[in-house]
Amino acid sequence: VDRADFIAGLPKAELHLHIEGSLEPEMLFALAKRNAVAIPFESVEAVRAAYEFSNLQDFLDIYYQGMSVLQTEQDFFDLTAAYLARAEADAVRHVEIFFDPQGHTERGVAFAVVIGGIARALDAARARGVTSRLIMCFLRHLDEAAAEATLDEALPYLAVIDGVGLDSSEVGHPPAKFARVFARARALGLKLVAHAGEEGPPAYVHEALDVLGVDRIDHGNRALEDAALVARLATGGMCLTVCPLSNHKLCVVDDLAAHPLRRMLDAGLVATVNSDDPAYFGGYVNANFVAVADALDLRRDEIVALARNSFAGSFLGETDKARHL
Ligand code: ADE
Ligand code: ZN
Repeated sequence: VDRADFIAGLPKAELHLHIEGSLEPEMLFALAKRNAVAIPFESVEAVRAAYEFSNLQDFLDIYYQGMSVLQTEQDFFDLTAAYLARAEADAVRHVEIFFDPQGHTERGVAFAVVIGGIARALDAARARGVTSRLIMCFLRHLDEAAAEATLDEALPYLAVIDGVGLDSSEVGHPPAKFARVFARARALGLKLVAHAGEEGPPAYVHEALDVLGVDRIDHGNRALEDAALVARLATGGMCLTVCPLSNHKLCVVDDLAAHPLRRMLDAGLVATVNSDDPAYFGGYVNANFVAVADALDLRRDEIVALARNSFAGSFLGETDKARHL
């Protein structure tokens, strides 16, 4: 079998997926119509043509604008169900989904509407054998008080929220800005993750570990600039959720052939492959595997290791992990 077929059939987990980033242009149009929300695009083709980014912020501006069509519980259900169907087609057996409640509550969409639709779709997938975890992200360009208020709003839903994360504009918003709200989330028994080292310096990765005490690092590319940090991540078995097509689209790497994934594997890091915002970056998880495996000429055993890492680095319990490993 060729490499793409091998990847397609390989059971895997996806650990870095922003559900709002799975909003395909077709659904953007359909929901804009259903909810009578104006969008500044003439056609699906015009939307796709607008997805040219020079950095993270370029993307985030369009990503937050796209969210405006998400209004009802059914919208969040449809969005999540479409992602899950697509993931299942990629042999994804377990998903850990991020959502950005502040992107919705700020627009007057209730927290209950957002979480209700997402959780209902995750329940339906569970009935088909796909397990999941839900991770609520704080927008780091907003202040810590806003994150605290978001955690307060989440308290009635902790039965369906497994962890908290940190996303949005990285540079200028170091992890330590959210020290107190992460400490409170930890005390509530939540898992902790943070985007770090996507555009930000290695010091932000250190801070995510030292100040926030994260269980996983999202991206982590720039950790490779700091040899002591690489050794620390390797020794601690810290999982990195790497997103190759995202990195390319956001100019974190100039060329996939220069992607740090091979160096991460060579350094013994628990790296995984993920799609981040697949509707914006041109591919779901298998497309990410194929693109990076082709660019770096990854061996079969390396591809298998990446898939195993996705289960090992997940928040599944030991029994469930053992089932997959
Ligand atoms: N929000 C959605 N995708 C993101 C990314 N790749 N980095 C930071 N914030 C995000
Ligand atoms: Zn991300």
